[in-house]
Amino acid sequence: MNFQLTEEQLNVQQAARDFAQTELLPGVIERDEHQKFPMEQVKKLGELGFLGMMVDPKYGGSGMDSVSYVLAMEELSKVDASTSVVVSVNNSLVCWGLETFANEDQKQKYLVPMASGQCWGAFLLSEPEAGSDATSQRTTAEDKGDYYLLNGTKNWITNGNTAKYYIVIAQTHVDKGHKGINAFIVEKDSPGVTVGNKENKLGIRGSDTHSIMFTDVKVPKENRIGEDGFGFKFAMKTLTGGRIGIAAQALGIASGAYELSLAYSKQRKAFGKEIMHHQAIQFKLADMATEIEAARLFCLKAAWLKDNHLDYAMASSMAKVFSSEVAMRTTVEAVQIHGGYGFVKEYHVERLMRDAKITQIYEGTSEVQRIVISREILR
Ligand code: CAA
Repeated sequence: MNFQLTEEQLNVQQAARDFAQTELLPGVIERDEHQKFPMEQVKKLGELGFLGMMVDPKYGGSGMDSVSYVLAMEELSKVDASTSVVVSVNNSLVCWGLETFANEDQKQKYLVPMASGQCWGAFLLSEPEAGSDATSQRTTAEDKGDYYLLNGTKNWITNGNTAKYYIVIAQTHVDKGHKGINAFIVEKDSPGVTVGNKENKLGIRGSDTHSIMFTDVKVPKENRIGEDGFGFKFAMKTLTGGRIGIAAQALGIASGAYELSLAYSKQRKAFGKEIMHHQAIQFKLADMATEIEAARLFCLKAAWLKDNHLDYAMASSMAKVFSSEVAMRTTVEAVQIHGGYGFVKEYHVERLMRDAKITQIYEGTSEVQRIVISREILR
Protein backbone atom coordinates (compact mmCIF):
# COMPACT_ATOMS: atom_id res chain seq x y z
CA MET A 1 0.00 0.00 0.00
CA ASN A 2 1.45 3.35 -1.03
CA PHE A 3 0.16 6.48 0.72
CA GLN A 4 2.63 8.78 -1.06
CA LEU A 5 1.14 11.38 -3.40
CA THR A 6 2.76 11.76 -6.81
CA GLU A 7 4.51 14.96 -7.81
CA GLU A 8 1.61 15.84 -10.11
CA GLN A 9 -0.92 15.33 -7.30
CA LEU A 10 1.17 17.49 -4.94
CA ASN A 11 1.33 20.21 -7.60
CA VAL A 12 -2.46 20.21 -8.03
CA GLN A 13 -2.89 20.38 -4.26
CA GLN A 14 -0.49 23.33 -4.03
CA ALA A 15 -2.15 25.14 -6.95
CA ALA A 16 -5.59 24.77 -5.34
CA ARG A 17 -4.19 25.91 -1.96
CA ASP A 18 -2.61 29.00 -3.54
CA PHE A 19 -5.80 29.80 -5.46
CA ALA A 20 -7.89 29.50 -2.28
CA GLN A 21 -5.61 31.88 -0.37
CA THR A 22 -5.11 34.49 -3.08
CA GLU A 23 -8.41 34.42 -4.98
CA LEU A 24 -11.07 32.97 -2.67
CA LEU A 25 -10.18 34.29 0.78
CA PRO A 26 -10.45 38.00 -0.09
CA GLY A 27 -14.17 38.75 -0.21
CA VAL A 28 -15.43 35.37 1.04
CA ILE A 29 -17.23 36.95 4.01
CA GLU A 30 -18.94 39.58 1.83
CA ARG A 31 -19.99 37.02 -0.78
CA ASP A 32 -21.55 34.92 1.97
CA GLU A 33 -23.30 37.87 3.56
CA HIS A 34 -24.69 39.27 0.31
CA GLN A 35 -25.28 35.86 -1.35
CA LYS A 36 -23.01 36.92 -4.20
CA PHE A 37 -22.07 34.25 -6.71
CA PRO A 38 -18.25 34.01 -7.14
CA MET A 39 -18.42 34.70 -10.88
CA GLU A 40 -14.88 36.03 -11.36
CA GLN A 41 -13.41 33.24 -9.23
CA VAL A 42 -15.26 30.44 -11.05
CA LYS A 43 -14.18 31.85 -14.43
CA LYS A 44 -10.56 31.83 -13.26
CA LEU A 45 -10.92 28.26 -11.99
CA GLY A 46 -12.22 27.36 -15.45
CA GLU A 47 -9.21 28.98 -17.12
CA LEU A 48 -6.89 27.03 -14.80
CA GLY A 49 -8.54 23.70 -15.69
CA PHE A 50 -10.36 23.07 -12.39
CA LEU A 51 -13.82 22.74 -13.97
CA GLY A 52 -12.94 19.71 -16.09
CA MET A 53 -10.23 18.19 -13.95
CA MET A 54 -10.77 14.52 -14.81
CA VAL A 55 -11.88 14.93 -18.43
CA ASP A 56 -9.63 13.70 -21.22
CA PRO A 57 -7.66 16.63 -22.75
CA LYS A 58 -9.14 15.70 -26.16
CA TYR A 59 -12.47 16.98 -24.75
CA GLY A 60 -10.96 20.10 -23.22
CA GLY A 61 -10.26 18.65 -19.76
CA SER A 62 -7.14 18.48 -17.62
CA GLY A 63 -6.78 14.66 -17.69
CA MET A 64 -6.14 14.33 -13.96
CA ASP A 65 -7.14 11.50 -11.65
CA SER A 66 -9.86 11.48 -8.98
CA VAL A 67 -7.26 11.61 -6.21
CA SER A 68 -6.11 15.01 -7.54
CA TYR A 69 -9.75 16.09 -7.64
CA VAL A 70 -10.19 15.18 -3.94
CA LEU A 71 -7.02 17.11 -3.05
CA ALA A 72 -8.20 20.19 -4.95
CA MET A 73 -11.72 20.00 -3.48
CA GLU A 74 -10.29 19.84 0.05
CA GLU A 75 -8.09 22.91 -0.47
CA LEU A 76 -10.79 25.05 -2.12
CA SER A 77 -13.39 24.04 0.48
CA LYS A 78 -11.15 24.98 3.39
CA VAL A 79 -11.75 28.57 2.36
CA ASP A 80 -14.92 28.80 0.27
CA ALA A 81 -17.46 25.98 -0.05
CA SER A 82 -19.78 28.21 -2.12
CA THR A 83 -17.15 28.14 -4.86
CA SER A 84 -16.09 24.53 -4.42
CA VAL A 85 -19.64 23.27 -4.95
CA VAL A 86 -19.57 24.75 -8.46
CA VAL A 87 -16.34 22.86 -9.11
CA SER A 88 -17.84 19.66 -7.71
CA VAL A 89 -21.11 19.80 -9.66
CA ASN A 90 -19.45 20.61 -12.97
CA ASN A 91 -16.70 17.99 -12.61
CA SER A 92 -18.71 15.13 -11.13
CA LEU A 93 -22.34 15.53 -12.06
CA VAL A 94 -22.00 17.20 -15.43
CA CYS A 95 -18.65 16.42 -17.10
CA TRP A 96 -18.19 12.88 -15.79
CA GLY A 97 -21.68 11.82 -16.86
CA LEU A 98 -21.22 13.30 -20.32
CA GLU A 99 -17.74 11.89 -20.86
CA THR A 100 -18.85 8.43 -19.73
CA PHE A 101 -22.29 8.14 -21.33
CA ALA A 102 -22.84 10.83 -23.99
CA ASN A 103 -22.25 10.20 -27.69
CA GLU A 104 -19.46 11.87 -29.67
CA ASP A 105 -21.66 14.70 -31.05
CA GLN A 106 -22.96 15.51 -27.56
CA LYS A 107 -19.41 15.52 -26.19
CA GLN A 108 -18.16 17.89 -28.88
CA LYS A 109 -21.09 20.25 -28.49
CA TYR A 110 -21.54 20.27 -24.70
CA LEU A 111 -18.67 18.55 -22.88
CA VAL A 112 -15.85 20.47 -24.58
CA PRO A 113 -17.04 23.97 -23.56
CA MET A 114 -17.90 22.88 -20.01
CA ALA A 115 -14.72 20.85 -19.41
CA SER A 116 -12.54 23.65 -20.76
CA GLY A 117 -14.20 26.14 -18.43
CA GLN A 118 -15.84 28.37 -21.04
CA CYS A 119 -19.11 27.74 -19.20
CA TRP A 120 -20.51 25.26 -16.67
CA GLY A 121 -23.53 23.10 -16.09
CA ALA A 122 -26.13 21.98 -13.57
CA PHE A 123 -27.68 18.62 -12.66
CA LEU A 124 -31.46 18.65 -12.36
CA LEU A 125 -32.79 15.63 -10.49
CA SER A 126 -34.49 16.88 -7.29
CA GLU A 127 -38.13 17.93 -7.39
CA PRO A 128 -40.60 19.31 -4.85
CA GLU A 129 -41.72 15.70 -4.17
CA ALA A 130 -38.65 13.75 -5.31
CA GLY A 131 -35.65 14.39 -3.08
CA SER A 132 -34.28 11.24 -1.46
CA ASP A 133 -36.97 9.25 -3.28
CA ALA A 134 -35.44 9.96 -6.67
CA THR A 135 -37.55 7.45 -8.62
CA SER A 136 -40.70 9.55 -8.01
CA GLN A 137 -39.97 11.98 -10.84
CA ARG A 138 -42.95 14.18 -11.83
CA THR A 139 -41.21 16.10 -14.59
CA THR A 140 -42.29 14.57 -17.88
CA ALA A 141 -40.58 14.36 -21.27
CA GLU A 142 -43.20 13.35 -23.78
CA ASP A 143 -41.90 11.73 -26.96
CA LYS A 144 -43.17 13.81 -29.89
CA GLY A 145 -41.23 12.17 -32.71
CA ASP A 146 -38.14 14.25 -33.37
CA TYR A 147 -38.26 16.06 -30.04
CA TYR A 148 -39.34 15.58 -26.41
CA LEU A 149 -41.75 17.99 -24.74
CA LEU A 150 -40.48 18.77 -21.26
CA ASN A 151 -42.81 19.92 -18.45
CA GLY A 152 -42.29 20.15 -14.70
CA THR A 153 -40.35 21.78 -11.89
CA LYS A 154 -36.92 21.02 -10.43
CA ASN A 155 -35.83 22.18 -6.98
CA TRP A 156 -32.60 23.09 -5.17
CA ILE A 157 -30.60 23.36 -8.37
CA THR A 158 -26.96 24.34 -7.78
CA ASN A 159 -25.74 26.65 -10.61
CA GLY A 160 -29.42 27.05 -11.59
CA ASN A 161 -29.00 30.57 -12.95
CA THR A 162 -25.35 30.63 -13.97
CA ALA A 163 -25.16 27.28 -15.82
CA LYS A 164 -25.35 27.36 -19.59
CA TYR A 165 -26.46 23.74 -19.94
CA TYR A 166 -28.63 21.53 -17.77
CA ILE A 167 -28.62 17.76 -17.39
CA VAL A 168 -32.32 17.08 -16.74
CA ILE A 169 -33.76 13.82 -15.42
CA ALA A 170 -37.40 13.29 -16.46
CA GLN A 171 -40.07 10.62 -16.79
CA THR A 172 -40.77 9.56 -20.38
CA HIS A 173 -42.84 6.41 -19.81
CA VAL A 174 -44.84 6.97 -16.61
CA ASP A 175 -46.07 3.33 -16.54
CA LYS A 176 -42.49 1.98 -16.45
CA GLY A 177 -41.41 3.59 -13.15
CA HIS A 178 -37.66 4.16 -12.88
CA LYS A 179 -37.09 2.21 -16.11
CA GLY A 180 -39.08 4.92 -17.95
CA ILE A 181 -36.79 7.75 -16.83
CA ASN A 182 -34.41 9.53 -19.22
CA ALA A 183 -31.60 12.09 -18.94
CA PHE A 184 -31.46 15.03 -21.36
CA ILE A 185 -29.12 17.88 -22.15
CA VAL A 186 -31.21 21.06 -22.11
CA GLU A 187 -29.90 24.48 -23.09
CA LYS A 188 -30.80 26.97 -20.39
CA ASP A 189 -31.88 29.65 -22.87
CA SER A 190 -34.42 27.33 -24.55
CA PRO A 191 -37.94 28.83 -24.83
CA GLY A 192 -40.09 27.66 -21.89
CA VAL A 193 -37.28 27.49 -19.32
CA THR A 194 -37.91 29.74 -16.29
CA VAL A 195 -35.42 30.26 -13.48
CA GLY A 196 -37.07 30.81 -10.08
CA ASN A 197 -35.81 33.08 -7.30
CA LYS A 198 -32.45 32.40 -5.69
CA GLU A 199 -32.87 30.45 -2.42
CA ASN A 200 -31.91 32.36 0.75
CA LYS A 201 -29.86 29.65 2.43
CA LEU A 202 -28.27 28.92 5.83
CA GLY A 203 -24.91 28.07 4.27
CA ILE A 204 -23.03 28.07 0.95
CA ARG A 205 -24.84 31.36 0.47
CA GLY A 206 -22.64 32.47 -2.42
CA SER A 207 -23.71 29.50 -4.51
CA ASP A 208 -26.51 29.85 -6.96
CA THR A 209 -29.49 27.67 -5.93
CA HIS A 210 -32.81 27.98 -7.76
CA SER A 211 -35.97 26.19 -8.77
CA ILE A 212 -36.22 25.68 -12.53
CA MET A 213 -39.58 25.44 -14.31
CA PHE A 214 -40.09 23.81 -17.72
CA THR A 215 -43.19 24.69 -19.74
CA ASP A 216 -43.50 22.89 -23.10
CA VAL A 217 -39.75 23.00 -23.66
CA LYS A 218 -38.80 21.28 -26.92
CA VAL A 219 -35.73 19.11 -26.38
CA PRO A 220 -34.23 17.69 -29.58
CA LYS A 221 -34.25 13.90 -29.69
CA GLU A 222 -30.48 13.85 -30.14
CA ASN A 223 -30.11 15.43 -26.67
CA ARG A 224 -31.20 12.28 -24.83
CA ILE A 225 -28.23 10.63 -23.10
CA GLY A 226 -27.91 6.90 -23.71
CA GLU A 227 -30.59 4.35 -24.57
CA ASP A 228 -34.28 5.00 -23.90
CA GLY A 229 -34.91 4.36 -20.17
CA PHE A 230 -31.27 4.77 -19.08
CA GLY A 231 -31.91 8.01 -17.14
CA PHE A 232 -32.27 6.65 -13.60
CA LYS A 233 -29.15 4.52 -13.83
CA PHE A 234 -27.36 7.47 -15.39
CA ALA A 235 -28.35 9.61 -12.39
CA MET A 236 -27.37 6.98 -9.81
CA LYS A 237 -23.99 6.25 -11.42
CA THR A 238 -23.26 9.96 -11.74
CA LEU A 239 -24.20 10.64 -8.12
CA THR A 240 -21.98 7.79 -6.95
CA GLY A 241 -18.95 9.73 -8.20
CA GLY A 242 -20.46 13.06 -7.13
CA ARG A 243 -20.52 11.85 -3.54
CA ILE A 244 -16.71 11.66 -3.55
CA GLY A 245 -16.58 15.34 -4.48
CA ILE A 246 -19.00 16.34 -1.71
CA ALA A 247 -17.16 14.11 0.78
CA ALA A 248 -13.98 16.01 -0.13
CA GLN A 249 -15.86 19.28 0.26
CA ALA A 250 -16.93 18.26 3.77
CA LEU A 251 -13.34 17.22 4.51
CA GLY A 252 -12.13 20.65 3.40
CA ILE A 253 -14.68 22.48 5.54
CA ALA A 254 -13.54 20.39 8.54
CA SER A 255 -9.83 20.86 7.90
CA GLY A 256 -10.31 24.60 7.29
CA ALA A 257 -12.05 24.93 10.68
CA TYR A 258 -9.36 22.81 12.35
CA GLU A 259 -6.48 24.87 10.93
CA LEU A 260 -8.12 28.10 12.09
CA SER A 261 -8.69 26.61 15.56
CA LEU A 262 -5.11 25.42 15.83
CA ALA A 263 -3.74 28.86 14.90
CA TYR A 264 -6.17 30.60 17.27
CA SER A 265 -5.31 28.33 20.19
CA LYS A 266 -1.61 29.21 19.74
CA GLN A 267 -2.17 32.94 20.05
CA ARG A 268 -5.21 33.34 22.33
CA LYS A 269 -4.32 33.55 26.03
CA ALA A 270 -6.56 32.57 28.98
CA PHE A 271 -5.69 31.92 32.61
CA GLY A 272 -2.14 33.14 32.00
CA LYS A 273 -1.17 30.97 29.03
CA GLU A 274 -2.03 30.27 25.40
CA ILE A 275 -5.17 28.16 25.33
CA MET A 276 -3.30 25.38 23.48
CA HIS A 277 -1.69 24.61 26.84
CA HIS A 278 -5.06 23.73 28.36
CA GLN A 279 -5.92 20.06 28.13
CA ALA A 280 -9.56 20.86 27.32
CA ILE A 281 -8.37 22.47 24.06
CA GLN A 282 -5.69 19.86 23.38
CA PHE A 283 -8.25 17.05 23.51
CA LYS A 284 -10.55 18.89 21.11
CA LEU A 285 -7.69 19.45 18.67
CA ALA A 286 -6.63 15.80 18.95
CA ASP A 287 -10.17 14.58 18.21
CA MET A 288 -10.51 16.96 15.27
CA ALA A 289 -7.17 15.93 13.76
CA THR A 290 -7.92 12.22 14.18
CA GLU A 291 -11.37 12.39 12.61
CA ILE A 292 -10.17 14.60 9.75
CA GLU A 293 -7.39 12.16 8.93
CA ALA A 294 -9.89 9.29 8.88
CA ALA A 295 -12.21 11.30 6.60
CA ARG A 296 -9.28 12.10 4.29
CA LEU A 297 -8.40 8.41 4.03
CA PHE A 298 -12.02 7.56 3.21
CA CYS A 299 -12.12 10.19 0.44
CA LEU A 300 -8.78 9.15 -1.04
CA LYS A 301 -9.71 5.48 -0.94
CA ALA A 302 -13.00 6.09 -2.78
CA ALA A 303 -11.12 8.17 -5.38
CA TRP A 304 -8.42 5.52 -5.73
CA LEU A 305 -11.04 2.79 -6.29
CA LYS A 306 -12.66 4.94 -8.98
CA ASP A 307 -9.32 5.64 -10.66
CA ASN A 308 -8.59 1.91 -10.69
CA HIS A 309 -12.01 1.01 -12.16
CA LEU A 310 -13.04 -0.91 -9.03
CA ASP A 311 -16.47 -0.77 -7.38
CA TYR A 312 -16.65 2.47 -5.41
CA ALA A 313 -20.38 2.81 -4.59
CA MET A 314 -20.06 1.79 -0.94
CA ALA A 315 -16.76 3.64 -0.48
CA SER A 316 -18.17 6.90 -1.85
CA SER A 317 -21.22 6.72 0.43
CA MET A 318 -19.02 5.87 3.42
CA ALA A 319 -16.72 8.77 2.58
CA LYS A 320 -19.67 11.15 2.28
CA VAL A 321 -21.57 10.12 5.40
CA PHE A 322 -18.43 10.08 7.55
CA SER A 323 -16.81 13.26 6.21
CA SER A 324 -20.02 15.27 6.43
CA GLU A 325 -20.55 14.22 10.05
CA VAL A 326 -16.92 15.08 10.81
CA ALA A 327 -17.47 18.47 9.17
CA MET A 328 -20.43 19.16 11.47
CA ARG A 329 -18.66 18.02 14.66
CA THR A 330 -15.40 19.81 13.81
CA THR A 331 -16.98 23.12 12.90
CA VAL A 332 -19.14 23.16 16.06
CA GLU A 333 -16.00 22.54 18.14
CA ALA A 334 -14.10 25.18 16.17
CA VAL A 335 -16.69 27.77 17.16
CA GLN A 336 -16.41 26.58 20.77
CA ILE A 337 -12.59 26.93 20.77
CA HIS A 338 -12.93 30.45 19.41
CA GLY A 339 -15.48 31.34 22.12
CA GLY A 340 -17.24 34.65 21.44
CA TYR A 341 -14.97 35.30 18.45
CA GLY A 342 -16.26 32.10 16.88
CA PHE A 343 -19.72 33.60 16.86
CA VAL A 344 -18.80 36.60 14.69
CA LYS A 345 -18.16 36.60 10.97
CA GLU A 346 -14.55 37.87 10.83
CA TYR A 347 -13.20 34.64 12.28
CA HIS A 348 -14.69 32.44 9.51
CA VAL A 349 -15.61 29.44 11.67
CA GLU A 350 -19.31 30.36 12.03
CA ARG A 351 -19.55 30.35 8.21
CA LEU A 352 -17.79 26.99 7.99
CA MET A 353 -20.27 25.63 10.58
CA ARG A 354 -23.22 26.85 8.48
CA ASP A 355 -21.63 25.53 5.27
CA ALA A 356 -20.97 22.11 6.80
CA LYS A 357 -24.67 21.33 7.21
CA ILE A 358 -25.45 21.07 3.50
CA THR A 359 -22.89 18.30 3.05
CA GLN A 360 -25.21 16.05 5.09
CA ILE A 361 -28.10 16.89 2.77
CA TYR A 362 -27.18 17.32 -0.90
CA GLU A 363 -26.17 14.57 -3.33
CA GLY A 364 -28.03 12.18 -1.03
CA THR A 365 -28.73 12.80 2.64
CA SER A 366 -26.82 10.92 5.35
CA GLU A 367 -29.86 8.63 5.54
CA VAL A 368 -29.61 7.85 1.79
CA GLN A 369 -25.89 7.06 2.20
CA ARG A 370 -26.79 4.60 4.97
CA ILE A 371 -29.35 2.98 2.65
CA VAL A 372 -26.66 2.55 -0.01
CA ILE A 373 -24.09 1.19 2.48
CA SER A 374 -26.50 -1.23 4.14
CA ARG A 375 -27.70 -2.56 0.77
CA GLU A 376 -24.09 -3.19 -0.27
CA ILE A 377 -23.39 -4.98 3.03
CA LEU A 378 -26.54 -7.11 2.84
CA ARG A 379 -26.33 -7.88 -0.88
N1 CAA B 1 -25.33 2.55 -9.87
C1 CAA B 1 -26.02 1.94 -10.85
N2 CAA B 1 -27.33 1.60 -10.74
C2 CAA B 1 -27.94 1.86 -9.59
C3 CAA B 1 -27.29 2.51 -8.50
C4 CAA B 1 -25.92 2.84 -8.69
N3 CAA B 1 -25.20 3.45 -7.72
N4 CAA B 1 -28.17 2.65 -7.50
C5 CAA B 1 -29.34 2.12 -7.92
N5 CAA B 1 -29.19 1.66 -9.17
C6 CAA B 1 -30.19 0.99 -10.01
C7 CAA B 1 -30.66 -0.31 -9.33
O1 CAA B 1 -29.81 -1.39 -9.69
C8 CAA B 1 -32.06 -0.48 -9.90
O2 CAA B 1 -31.98 -1.00 -11.21
P1 CAA B 1 -32.80 -2.35 -11.64
O3 CAA B 1 -34.25 -2.04 -11.42
O4 CAA B 1 -32.44 -2.55 -13.05
O5 CAA B 1 -32.31 -3.42 -10.74
C9 CAA B 1 -32.53 0.95 -10.06
O6 CAA B 1 -31.37 1.79 -10.11
C10 CAA B 1 -33.43 1.39 -8.91
O7 CAA B 1 -32.68 1.23 -7.75
P2 CAA B 1 -33.34 1.10 -6.30
O8 CAA B 1 -34.46 0.12 -6.34
O9 CAA B 1 -32.22 0.87 -5.36
O10 CAA B 1 -33.98 2.56 -6.09
P3 CAA B 1 -34.64 3.18 -4.83
O11 CAA B 1 -35.85 3.89 -5.24
O12 CAA B 1 -34.78 2.15 -3.73
O13 CAA B 1 -33.61 4.35 -4.37
C11 CAA B 1 -31.75 5.49 -3.48
C12 CAA B 1 -32.33 4.20 -4.07
C13 CAA B 1 -30.31 5.11 -3.13
C14 CAA B 1 -32.46 5.97 -2.20
C15 CAA B 1 -31.78 6.60 -4.56
O14 CAA B 1 -33.08 7.00 -4.86
C16 CAA B 1 -30.97 7.82 -4.20
O15 CAA B 1 -29.75 7.81 -4.34
N6 CAA B 1 -31.63 8.92 -3.75
C17 CAA B 1 -30.96 10.17 -3.45
C18 CAA B 1 -30.93 11.05 -4.65
C19 CAA B 1 -29.88 12.10 -4.55
O16 CAA B 1 -28.73 11.83 -4.25
N7 CAA B 1 -30.27 13.33 -4.87
C20 CAA B 1 -29.35 14.41 -4.91
C21 CAA B 1 -29.77 15.40 -5.92
S1 CAA B 1 -28.48 16.07 -6.88
C22 CAA B 1 -27.72 17.25 -5.96
O17 CAA B 1 -27.88 17.38 -4.78
C23 CAA B 1 -26.76 18.05 -6.73
C24 CAA B 1 -26.46 19.40 -6.24
O18 CAA B 1 -27.11 20.32 -6.58
C25 CAA B 1 -25.26 19.61 -5.40
